[in-house]
Amino acid sequence: MTRSQIRSGEGAELEELAVELAREAGRLIVEERPDRVTVAETKSSATDVVTVMDQRAERLLRDRLAAARPDDGILGEEGESTSGSSGLTWVVDPIDGTVNYLYGLAAFAVSVAVVTGDPTTPGAWEPVAAAVDHPVAGETFHARAGGGSFVSSAAGSPVGLRANHVDRLDRALIGTGFGYRAEDRRRQGAVVADLLPHVRDIRRAGSAALDLCHVAAGRLDGYYESGLNPWDLAGGQLVLTEAGGRVSGLHGAPPSRDMVIAAGPALHPLLRDAVDTRH
Ligand code: IPD
Repeated sequence: MTRSQIRSGEGAELEELAVELAREAGRLIVEERPDRVTVAETKSSATDVVTVMDQRAERLLRDRLAAARPDDGILGEEGESTSGSSGLTWVVDPIDGTVNYLYGLAAFAVSVAVVTGDPTTPGAWEPVAAAVDHPVAGETFHARAGGGSFVSSAAGSPVGLRANHVDRLDRALIGTGFGYRAEDRRRQGAVVADLLPHVRDIRRAGSAALDLCHVAAGRLDGYYESGLNPWDLAGGQLVLTEAGGRVSGLHGAPPSRDMVIAAGPALHPLLRDAVDTRH
């Protein structure tokens, strides 16, 4: 299935469901956060942690999706992937920013996206609808293909998003992140050290999904990171492209695990060149 085969009205339904599910999981992880969050298991390294709340929130998302969309596939950060028969797959991250969550820092989010194509390969998918809920801020970023991108809070009506128009790297506030493996970090640290003198400043907030939404909302001018997983990227990618931003990989290739480079259209080629030459 391709995005153009989605029936009329289905994009809006999928966006609504993504918002509902991301908010429900967002409420769960905040309201039931234990006083002391403990690590349930580790993944790629001792610093790549999973909490019981990651597992509970993913279970909730999987149960709700199985009931509401039994023919769709699911690819989640903490469980087995299931393939469906509809051609749509939900790509979910129950807590993006798990280390912040562990320490009681606010920058964590629930990302729920639905894509066509191969859900494991960003260059081979087309996001259809997405929501990224930032429960501590009471904000939900959401979008559907061709429908624009918005941030909603419980109180107000949705506010449309537009990425900044910045056309100089030295005026650009750039977000980035680091993987969990020491050898990846050595390389990422060298790239950021070399880039730092050429930009306004660097931020490392700790949630890739929020970083991408913050570029969409003009709170960052650009963002890049290597080593992202599909669930870190899918939701924020659609929110940003629907806000007029661009998301690519190295040398103009599609975004991939190798690299994600995201910014408004004027800054994107400048940031891409800056990252290309240093990576
Ligand atoms: C991580 C966050 C972080 C990024 C890492 C991701 P997780 O996701 O998005 O900002 O730098 O690359 O793995 O582990 O908290 O879901």
